[in-house]
Amino acid sequence: MDINSLIGVFDSGVGGLTVLKQLIRFLPNEKFLYLGDTARVPYGNKSQETVKRYAEEATKFLLSKNVKMIVIACNTVSSLALENVRKLAGDIPVVGMLDFSAIAAYRTSRTKNIAVIGTRATIDSQSYEQQLKQIADTKKLKIYSKPCPLFVPLVEELFLDNEATKLIASNYLVEFSEKNIDTLILGCTHYPALSKIIQDLLPNVNLIDTGEQSSIQVLRILAEKHILNNDTIDFSAVPQVEFFITDLSPNFKKIAEFLLGFSIENPNIVQLNND
Ligand code: DGL
Repeated sequence: MDINSLIGVFDSGVGGLTVLKQLIRFLPNEKFLYLGDTARVPYGNKSQETVKRYAEEATKFLLSKNVKMIVIACNTVSSLALENVRKLAGDIPVVGMLDFSAIAAYRTSRTKNIAVIGTRATIDSQSYEQQLKQIADTKKLKIYSKPCPLFVPLVEELFLDNEATKLIASNYLVEFSEKNIDTLILGCTHYPALSKIIQDLLPNVNLIDTGEQSSIQVLRILAEKHILNNDTIDFSAVPQVEFFITDLSPNFKKIAEFLLGFSIENPNIVQLNND
């Protein structure tokens, strides 16, 4: 494994860019390849079989680029197809969105009443419940979960500080204000783009950003495997990312630049399937 190889990051669309932003923050010396399957977004309302197939196709593409690590910047794929990606990746380490996020939620919660929001597929899979139950005494833990399927298209439309979004968010989240929850896992990588609206509705709740938590895990694994690029940090350098998407939606560049906070080159278009 070459220390200078790229870290491959993939998602169904633009949501994984919130993860990429955190990765760049924690790993300023690394070079990244971002793959967004924009032609087939959303994944969150598709069957497990389909999500597995898409995840395998994305993994094969990243492996063909000789990446040194794969980050599944999508909670839906992490919930439904982590093992499929790991199997294909072999010795290449794979990081999903769940383990460090669940640990962070458990450790920071005082009441141990934790809520999770995500796509329908993620919530139906009960992946966070399983993850939390692996680290915690289930008798002392209450987990509330709720699918929020309208959040993904709202983010993709950049409806971020918008009255309609506020109304939908309040509709989804109102049930949590009656529970004694103090921690909410944003279990979809699109959702950090809506943090402000969510935090305003649940002001005393600690929001867990899965991209942030997973970046800590990525940093640890790179260091443990001695593949962390630890050259001297050049703080003036622009982030090094190659972008690949499966369909150039007219909005992609605009949303990407908004979520990342810097301008990007035109993305490359790639076809992942042979349909
Ligand atoms: N951003 C993705 C996630 O974290 C999936 C959104 C979608 O494609 O439905 O779950």
